Amino acid sequence: MSNRGEKSFIKLPKFAAKFYDKMMQLEPMKIQRSQIAELLLPLINEGTFLDIGTGHGRLLIEINKLNPRIELFGLDISEKMINLAKTNLKNIKANLQQGNIVSTNYENSYFDLITCTGSFYLWNAPIEGLNEIHRILKPNKTAILFESHKEYDESILKEEIKKNLSNEGFFNRKLVPYFLKKQLKMTYEITELEDLLNKSLFENNFSINKITLANLPIWLKIELNKE
Ligand SMILES: C[S@@+](CC[C@H](N)C(=O)[O-])C[C@H]1O[C@@H](n2cnc3c(N)ncnc32)[C@H](O)[C@@H]1O
Repeated sequence: MSNRGEKSFIKLPKFAAKFYDKMMQLEPMKIQRSQIAELLLPLINEGTFLDIGTGHGRLLIEINKLNPRIELFGLDISEKMINLAKTNLKNIKANLQQGNIVSTNYENSYFDLITCTGSFYLWNAPIEGLNEIHRILKPNKTAILFESHKEYDESILKEEIKKNLSNEGFFNRKLVPYFLKKQLKMTYEITELEDLLNKSLFENNFSINKITLANLPIWLKIELNKE
């Protein structure tokens, strides 16, 4: 099993989790989160919602703001991230758990909707993770993964990043593109994703579509359907 990156999140120090959370509060990241929430909300009116690799938990806050009836769950492999999510969600009812998506203690067919943003590419055992999503998702329901891809136009990306960060300070204008580049280096090719999905229990029951989030042309909306 190759180490894709989840290991460094397990060992993530508290200051790094806080630093990441700060970056995720920049305006373009807020826009990205609210666009993700808008794509998710038509799929759930009430019931159980899980965000895998929830990190700081801010997507759960956004979902709660738009529909407080939804029961919130967040899972993250990093203890420091889950602690941070607990602080960020201190006034919101949410079940936040440290754990690896390859093996969870959620009941079979428990969730009405599952999502995940920018985390799948880090999992050391992606097929096992997908199969666990299949186990805990209710039949006839959907999981949506938001993942980056490599088949984008470099000049458009540069231009949009520049526009997005034009009101930010010097460090954020340097750091955000640096971390994004790092992510894009590790991210899967679309054909690799298709291959992994076809080896999972979602075989023949998925779709992959290119989308933009905060105008960045690097995102995929991966829809996984459980029969
Ligand atoms: C790049 S962060 C994204 C955080 C958040 N979803 C966001 O959009 O800002 C990736 C998160 O996935 C978590 N993660 C990585 N591998 C995981 C796994 N196998 N199971 C659960 N969480 C995992 C990391 O600890 C980290 O918090």
